[in-house]
Amino acid sequence: MQHTETEEIKKIFPNAQDFLPLNGTDFIELYVGNAKQSAHYYQTAWGFQPLAYRGLETGAKDHVSYVLRQDKITIMLTSPLKPDGPINDHINKHGDGVKVVALWVDDAAKSWKETTSRGADSFLEPTLSEDKDGQVVVSGIHTYGETVHLFVERSRYNGVFLPGFIEWNPDYRPASVGLKYVDHMVGNVGWNEMNKWVEFYSKVMGFAQLVSFDDKDISTDYTALMSKVMTNGNGRIKFPINEPAEGKKKSQIEEYIDFYNGAGVQHIALATDNIMETVTALKKNGVEFLYVPDTYYDDLLDRVGEIDEDLAPLRELGILVDRDDEGYLLQLFTKPVLDRPTMFFEIIQRKGAQSFGKGNFKALFESIEREQERRGTL
Ligand code: FE2
Repeated sequence: MQHTETEEIKKIFPNAQDFLPLNGTDFIELYVGNAKQSAHYYQTAWGFQPLAYRGLETGAKDHVSYVLRQDKITIMLTSPLKPDGPINDHINKHGDGVKVVALWVDDAAKSWKETTSRGADSFLEPTLSEDKDGQVVVSGIHTYGETVHLFVERSRYNGVFLPGFIEWNPDYRPASVGLKYVDHMVGNVGWNEMNKWVEFYSKVMGFAQLVSFDDKDISTDYTALMSKVMTNGNGRIKFPINEPAEGKKKSQIEEYIDFYNGAGVQHIALATDNIMETVTALKKNGVEFLYVPDTYYDDLLDRVGEIDEDLAPLRELGILVDRDDEGYLLQLFTKPVLDRPTMFFEIIQRKGAQSFGKGNFKALFESIEREQERRGTL
């Protein structure tokens, strides 16, 4: 007997006091080799709007950050301006990748205290910063790999982003592609590490496991993984965690770990209200998606039942469909957006379904493997 997500969250958080209430994802920071050009990519290809800037002009001597926003999604792109430093080390080891998954909280000091007292490794003690627009308190803890969670308390701040940033307001503003919010963010961890990080999110952050599927569900002839989905108490933050599993050939999770040199964020799922329009715009802007075999659509309606969309445009755009007992979802995955086969994006439109497209895993991984085959890393 399966339960709806809301019922399940209530069941797994029985009368629980949420010791780490989270309002949502605050921002995602990537360390990149060339923030100026990355920012152009996220504007031009992804329709993110310029928001804020920090660099030499604002008194930052050794790094530069561009902040872009689309509806509720905020990304920060940071590059070093000098040799030898933690940002340089991160890029050297991992290539471009997510350093910070910042969470929006009402009390950053309490968030830090609750998590560090439960065993989290401190990244940043609660730190107050202010400018003419008010005050912000930020704290942080380490999670898998070299990734960190910042807790951002911004209720007393009215500035454009954070103290230290100025408004970034260029004339160049390509249109939004209709992305709305971060639906979930997936971490890849190493062999035998999934349960350690499931326990971290459960004990240290008060999350609970929402859905589980094992390698039998998600293995194909060549690759395999295990995945568990962790959610916070109000369901706004969902972190699936993947671990490689043995297959006939190298798991794509292992390929990620090899090229990223450790655990890290594998994909960021961004939600849209109209996946056809969003994907059409992204493709027009040059974003590359995983190839979906035409045969995927032959038995699609037998598998997922009746859907609102016509099959032809779904097939043409390569959009995947999956159903659970609450409804269905439409999704598709980009190719890695970096030269290393590491991070990629998912575009997702939910029509009732609260799951993650488990039924598409086999189709997805088969198409990922076709890409791996082309890179000779299977
Ligand atoms: Fe996903």
